[in-house]
Amino acid sequence: MKIAMACDHGAYQYKNELRDMLKNEGHEIIDCGCDGSASVDYPDYAKAAATLVSTGAVDKGIVLCGTGIGISIAANKVKGIRCALCTDVTMAKLTREHNDANMLAMGQRTTGIETCKDIVHAFLETPFSEGERHIKRIEKISEIESL
Ligand code: RB5
Repeated sequence: MKIAMACDHGAYQYKNELRDMLKNEGHEIIDCGCDGSASVDYPDYAKAAATLVSTGAVDKGIVLCGTGIGISIAANKVKGIRCALCTDVTMAKLTREHNDANMLAMGQRTTGIETCKDIVHAFLETPFSEGERHIKRIEKISEIESL
């Protein structure tokens, strides 16, 4: 799978560790930064990864910050993005099945690295359910974007 990844300084370590894990597993990763532990603004990095997802340049996006909150809020401002902040595997599976989430957000200060690895695998491996009620709800989300 082709995956865009991004983080701020609060999750630089996790982004690198998860990026390397996914590369080793054969995924193609576009690393949108950041590239160090110096303080940066998470919206800049969220925008870079989310734009690659929304234009179809990549299949999925994974973004991280201290809590996963700021970077998910920012990613969700990009048209077509459904970025889900997940803290466990159940959330990752359900957001793929029900919301067809195209981006995953996690927090380095709030979730352990092993759990994050499990979350990433669940997110990437779970297909959208294609359920009629879920499709209808996702269409309603898209309608809100054009208000
Ligand atoms: C950065 O200090 C911190 O605010 C950020 O990583 C994130 O937790 C924001 O939601």
